[in-house]
Amino acid sequence: MIDKIESLRVIPVVAIDNVEDALPLAEALTAGGLPVAEITLRTDAGIAAISKMAELEGFLVGAGTVHSADQAKQVVDAGAKFIVSPGFNPRTVQWCLDHAVPIFPGISSPTDLESAIELGINVVKFFPAEQIGGVKMLKALQGPYGEIRFIPTGGINVDNLGEYLSLPSVVACGGSWMVKPDLIRSKNFEEIQRLTRDAVQS
Ligand code: 3PG
Repeated sequence: MIDKIESLRVIPVVAIDNVEDALPLAEALTAGGLPVAEITLRTDAGIAAISKMAELEGFLVGAGTVHSADQAKQVVDAGAKFIVSPGFNPRTVQWCLDHAVPIFPGISSPTDLESAIELGINVVKFFPAEQIGGVKMLKALQGPYGEIRFIPTGGINVDNLGEYLSLPSVVACGGSWMVKPDLIRSKNFEEIQRLTRDAVQS
C-alpha cells in the first residue's frame, strides 16, 4: 500500500455531496494521472461514494476523517482500502491493526508521534501541515524520528507541493486543491482533471 501511495505522490482529499458524482470524479482524477482518492466522512454521501469508487478497477479508494473504530469498520465494509484520520485515536488504530487495514493516523506533535510508534505505526498523516510548521517542522522531526514517514496534509497546493515531496521522509501529500467541493458540485470535471494533471506534473 505504501509503495503504491508513494508512487502516486499526491492523495486528493474529497468531500462529496452527491453520490452520482463519485464515478465521474474518479474518472477525472484517473485521466489527470491520480487514480486515488481519500473520501472523507464529512458528508453524508461519503460512504456511498466509497462503495462506488471501490468498484472501479485500478482505482485506489480510501476513507478520511475517520473518528472511531465503528466508522473504520463501516468504510472497510464499503470497500475502502486504506484509512486516514485527522488525529491519533488509539482505538481506531488498534481496530485497523487487528483487521490488517492500512491506517495513517494524524499526528501534530512528537507526543502524538510517540503514541503512534507505541502501537507499531511508522507512516502517519502530518496534519494540518502548513499550520503546524510545514516543511521546517518535518525537518525537525527527521532527527529524532528518522524511521517515521509522513503524509503531510493541510494547506498544501501546487505551489508548495514540490518542497514537501523533496523531503525523503515524505511518502505523499494529501490535499483538496484539485477537488474543491464547488468544483464537484458544479460538475466541473474538466477543471478537476486539469488541476490534477498540474499536480502530477509539478
Ligand atoms: C484534510 O482533511 O486532510 C484537509 O481538509 C485537507 O486539507 P486542505 O483542504 O488544506 O488541502
